[in-house]
Amino acid sequence: MYDLLTGPGLWLSIGICLVGLFVRGVFYVKGLDWQLDRVAYTAHPKAGIKGALRSIFFWILPFGTRSWRTQPFMTVLFFVFHIGAVSIPLFLPAHNIILSEKLGFSFFSMNQTVADVISWAVIVSAFFLTIRRLILPEVRILSTPYDYLILFLSSAPFITGMICRYEMGNYSIFLIIHIICGEMLLVSIPFTKLSHILLFFLSRAQLGMDFGIKRGGMKGKGLAW
Ligand code: HEM
Ligand code: HEM
Repeated sequence: MYDLLTGPGLWLSIGICLVGLFVRGVFYVKGLDWQLDRVAYTAHPKAGIKGALRSIFFWILPFGTRSWRTQPFMTVLFFVFHIGAVSIPLFLPAHNIILSEKLGFSFFSMNQTVADVISWAVIVSAFFLTIRRLILPEVRILSTPYDYLILFLSSAPFITGMICRYEMGNYSIFLIIHIICGEMLLVSIPFTKLSHILLFFLSRAQLGMDFGIKRGGMKGKGLAW
């Protein structure tokens, strides 16, 4: 089972994730329409690209935008959660060992103690992100079982990974469960809201272009609308 999951399973899940995200990206860009979106994408590329990069930069900077600053506690939760969600799969020493053994390449490996702290922080923040959806009326009204499923899919590899790490329970069984959870997350990325891993950048770029060109960016210089 382990060989199956870390052999073809790993290839397949990483492949579906990357190819799927690529396809989502292509469809997103193909779906852009300057007339419908009212964004002069190609007419003013310089102002557009500047606006796009500016928007992405301030949104990935903690407290970089007004929306991040108005909800400081939630901002900390989101950033702590995401630092782990992005860094642990890529830079955990145990993951890099498997990557180099099975796929023949690996990334930089972070310190194990740092990884432990980040992983605990992800579990705690995922817990509070779930509580947020349950108790804040303005978020609860927007939440459907799908949102909880996404939170579950994202945190399951962390919970099962930590069970393996501290050898709570039967190690080999929990390792199999952990890998299944990790691969389920990878496969679901292109098909669910988790596609925001790529689409966040594309939609921020699109909105940033709108602001960079039309809404004040070019200060009304020579624009037909
Ligand atoms: C897809 C294939 C994956 C494989 C083959 C895999 C394999 C492993 C292995 C072998 C360990 C070490 C267990 C130990 O310490 O003995 C581990 C730990 C862990 N994994 Fe994964 N994993 C995968 C995906 C993921 C994903 C997608 C995430 C998170 C999104 C994740 C999060 C973790 C965490 C949080 C730990 C424990 C961290 C720590 O040591 O502090 N894993 N994984
Ligand atoms: C570079 C990569 C990523 C970026 C830029 C990003 C960005 C974001 C943003 C902007 C939000 C919305 C915050 C809000 O509602 O105010 C969000 C939500 C979320 N992200 Fe990511 N994300 C990334 C990667 C990931 C990964 C790898 C995972 C899972 C392992 C993940 C899981 C989630 C979840 C579960 C939520 C929703 C939390 C909730 O409201 O219930 N993200 N992300």
